[in-house]
Amino acid sequence: MTDRLVITRPDDWHLHLRDTEALAAVVPFTARQFRRAVVMPNLRPPVTTAVQALAYRQRILDALPAESDFDPLMTLYLTDKMTPQVISEAAKSRHIVAVKLYPAGATTNSDSGVTDIDNALPTLERMAELGMPLLVHGEVTDNTDVFEREQCFIDQILEPLSRRLPELKIVLEHITTADAVAFVNSGRPGLAATVTPQHLLMNRNALFTGGMRPHHYCLPVLKHESHREAVLKAATSGSERFFLGTDSAPHARSAKENPCGCAGIFSAHAGIELYAEAFEQVGKLKHLQKFASEAGPDFYGLPRNTDTITLIREPWQVPGNYPYLVNDPIVPLRAGETINWRMENTLND
Ligand code: DOR
Ligand code: ZN
Repeated sequence: MTDRLVITRPDDWHLHLRDTEALAAVVPFTARQFRRAVVMPNLRPPVTTAVQALAYRQRILDALPAESDFDPLMTLYLTDKMTPQVISEAAKSRHIVAVKLYPAGATTNSDSGVTDIDNALPTLERMAELGMPLLVHGEVTDNTDVFEREQCFIDQILEPLSRRLPELKIVLEHITTADAVAFVNSGRPGLAATVTPQHLLMNRNALFTGGMRPHHYCLPVLKHESHREAVLKAATSGSERFFLGTDSAPHARSAKENPCGCAGIFSAHAGIELYAEAFEQVGKLKHLQKFASEAGPDFYGLPRNTDTITLIREPWQVPGNYPYLVNDPIVPLRAGETINWRMENTLND
């Protein structure tokens, strides 16, 4: 049994950091483990221009611990009105790496999202020309059953879009179904997916274990065990098409433990350790480095990191909560429970 695992420092290719005091509370967790992260633009108001993205990046840098070398990779929020010119402008900055598609109404702060993908075609064409990837929240927004929204989105929107713009690089984010796995695997070059720890480790029963579990609610929602198994198999296969994206999505406790609770799971406190558990479950720790540290930069055309992190098999107990907003903490994934792997803290250990 491996008790110590040294891998190239990982990156997080899908992360929510929020802003102001929430940002300051959560960004150190990610910066401790990951060298880079692709930061989602679903602020209020959304990040829709290069100027806004670079200003947001500076606020993230300002919130980092002094010694940190964390490199935030920024995204723009696609709207019906975004022009191709905005893409050309953004592509000039090496700090802006992608554009995020939220179908309007699909999830948290998505009301400014795209109402009809045809509205975005000229902009998407410019992205294809410039090699700027499209990151996709892949769920339809009609009243399709909540467990079937990903499959429907692939059939109705993503597959036709992928055929129409064969040069457009596409990441289907936080995949949850066997259908998404099949689509990504059978697809053309330039098509990949991110996978969260929660979709590897939990199925939809986790929403109801012993009662309603709001801290397990995220979008896309957890799925049937057969889908979890398909996603786990793909993520741990060593394929270059699947890479790490925690989708760590902080919401204060009062917003989660609420009659209309927000979607989002905070996992940044233990991102890489949760993935190590999932890979170990299927005897695939040998593929963790590919998934966490290689496939992502290769897809984005960025260099792989050159330093390493060390994971130790040493159970630790996750706190019940961490400070977040004034008098309103955040409840992390596995709060009060044990995680089997621990990342060595290079500064203190
Ligand atoms: O669960 C989610 N939370 N899914 C998303 O797509 C957005 C995210 C958030 O921003 O809270
Ligand atoms: Zn997300």
